[in-house]
Amino acid sequence: MVNLQGSKITFFGHAAFRIITPDESVTFIDPWIKENPQCPENLKTIERMDAILVTHGHSDHFADVVELARKHKPVVVSINETAHWLENRGVKHNMGMGKGGTQKVGQLEVTMVHAVHSNSIDDDGKMVYGGEPAGYIVQLPGRARIYHAGDTCVFGDMKLIAEIYTPDIAMLPIGGHYTMGPREAAVAIRLLNVKHVIPMHYGTFPVLTGTPEALREETKDMAGLEIHIMKPGETLA
Ligand code: NI
Ligand code: MN
Repeated sequence: MVNLQGSKITFFGHAAFRIITPDESVTFIDPWIKENPQCPENLKTIERMDAILVTHGHSDHFADVVELARKHKPVVVSINETAHWLENRGVKHNMGMGKGGTQKVGQLEVTMVHAVHSNSIDDDGKMVYGGEPAGYIVQLPGRARIYHAGDTCVFGDMKLIAEIYTPDIAMLPIGGHYTMGPREAAVAIRLLNVKHVIPMHYGTFPVLTGTPEALREETKDMAGLEIHIMKPGETLA
């Protein structure tokens, strides 16, 4: 595994991850927790949250953000339109940004990158525009770089993500139906030229049928690739 130099990454199920940096700051990516069927009960009580990174406004990523932000008062990173919506909902400390931009979030350097998907926010039953969906490159202290792809299909510009950011670990959706499945994710891995992959966004709902085993099969010719199948609640350190 990659040397995380004192940081810890915990999978909360679906597309939700927690990163704890050496200064003990706690950052969540897409913290869908309350109704997340994959999230272990013992992780549902959150003690601390210093930052949230939002990939897009769909409920399986975003449903808990307002409540968590009000409670824990983290900084919230999202694309500008979503940041604006959050602000109107009384969420303070928004750090709205756009793709290609980088900002410091505690000890992390966070770059927003492209994702090809849709993006809307459930605004009390009305569907409103949330700006474009995104992914993130997160650079940990010590320079290990993580790519959280958000919800996306495979796209050719993943090659640019590889060229510019050279991620060490990629969290990729593989469930299919709403995102890429194993066949497409295998191509994404080639484009990203990444050696460590954490599959996500599979098995949560019956339609998300892609499996890590199918991804292994699709990538069996790729020397040196490590697919880390994280169980919800599991931590990489
Ligand atoms: Ni989505
Ligand atoms: Mn999703």
